[in-house]
Amino acid sequence: MRVAKEDKDRIRIWSDSPADTEELGVILGGILQPRDLFFLSGELGSGKTLLVRGITAGLYSEELAISPTFALVHRYAGELPLYHLDLYRLSSPEEIEPLALEELLEEEAAMVIEWGEPAKEALPASYMQVEFFRGEDENQRVISFLPYGERYRMINHLLLIKLITLLP
Ligand SMILES: Nc1ncnc2c1ncn2[C@@H]1O[C@H](COP(=O)(O)OP(=O)(O)O)[C@@H](O)[C@H]1O
Ligand SMILES: [Mg+2]
Repeated sequence: MRVAKEDKDRIRIWSDSPADTEELGVILGGILQPRDLFFLSGELGSGKTLLVRGITAGLYSEELAISPTFALVHRYAGELPLYHLDLYRLSSPEEIEPLALEELLEEEAAMVIEWGEPAKEALPASYMQVEFFRGEDENQRVISFLPYGERYRMINHLLLIKLITLLP
């Protein structure tokens, strides 16, 4: 794994294996606080769910994230509850409202959303956008963290420091 500051606020991470992406999630899980909101974007198989799996491990959740098969929303219990949404199967934007997403955040939980574009209107304008790209070889992924709002710039700062001090 390698990390670089892209510009003033953004950071970019090169993950060289599924284990790297999971480890990044674990580190992120150690930083998350109630009401933190992350949107994950990138094609199928780019590593979004694997990152969430790492986050649940980092939060000492009672179970580890898997790709949701039926429900749009899954809640991982733990010291800090985590809501994991995968809106890939959403058939229309009208399905968002009954999920009462803003209320879920009020529960002092953190929230991570895959394919979350249709949910943006229903949620705070301050969040982290995480973009996943495939790298040069089969097991490489490039993951960019784009912060919207002060809290998320702080998360990037913490993430950068942790990665720099933890990585060999
Ligand atoms: N560096 C990497 N980071 C994450 N996943 C990787 C990496 N290299 C290979 N993979 C593979 O890519 C797939 C990612 O799956 P998943 O996390 O479910 O993607 P998504 O949720 O974006 O559809 C897994 O099969 C994983 O083993
Ligand atoms: Mg997924």
